[in-house]
Amino acid sequence: MSTDPVQFYDEGERLPDTLPDSPFPIFKSWFDQAWDERITPNTNAMTISTLHEDGFPDSRIVLCKEIEPDAGNIVFYTNYNGAKGRQLAESPFASVVFHWDQYERQVRIRGRVTHATEAESDRYFASRRLESRLGAWISDQSQPIESRQALLDKAAEVIAGLGLDTAALMNGEDVVVPRPPHWGGFRIHAQSVELWAGGVGRVHDRARWVRDLSESGDGFVAGSWSSTRLQP
Ligand SMILES: Cc1cc2nc3c(=O)[nH]c(=O)nc-3n(C[C@H](O)[C@H](O)[C@H](O)COP(=O)(O)O)c2cc1C
Repeated sequence: MSTDPVQFYDEGERLPDTLPDSPFPIFKSWFDQAWDERITPNTNAMTISTLHEDGFPDSRIVLCKEIEPDAGNIVFYTNYNGAKGRQLAESPFASVVFHWDQYERQVRIRGRVTHATEAESDRYFASRRLESRLGAWISDQSQPIESRQALLDKAAEVIAGLGLDTAALMNGEDVVVPRPPHWGGFRIHAQSVELWAGGVGRVHDRARWVRDLSESGDGFVAGSWSSTRLQP
């Protein structure tokens, strides 16, 4: 340890001394840096927890496909009939966490959840690879299946049932696949955001921003953010 222990603890990454009005510009810059530098194949992966009907939190990874800094929202896509889809229909609240280990950064977000618009879901669905578009039809997400082979048999059946241009498919050509009605986006309207920057000796730098969300039509009207620095 150096002769000035306080300086020592200040060597890690720091959040600004004066916390900005909104956490989103820093969050977005961290996300973009990880994305641009492709530090891992899925730098946009986030763990999302929803509330299972048995009362336990239920967590899994999904990919964050959109960050909306001005509104303070993020968007991901999934099957509305899967476990998380049903949990969100019942309890439209979520907690997510991003971790970019190489940069010693963590972002935690808690928020209220709504469906993305049909137009957004159509747009994003159309941008996915053919295999993923077909996959969205094949899988009754989170439902049991007796074997892997049964899933592959089901895949063949479902693809045949879609009435697509089979000759084009067999040729490896792209074909238009309609979006399944049970597949689409969820928008998380952040109500609280915590930024965590790793520090020396576990004396990390943490701050949390919170704001009010009042329901309005299909979405929310958000109050302004207020911030608090937290002990690590
Ligand atoms: C790196 C990675 C990315 C994933 N991305 C998604 C995603 O964007 N959407 C999704 O529905 N599932 C995604 N999954 C699968 C989920 O983790 C999960 O297995 C699936 O959504 C079923 O969860 P549920 O039964 O809780 O609904 C991803 C898994 C991994 C490991």
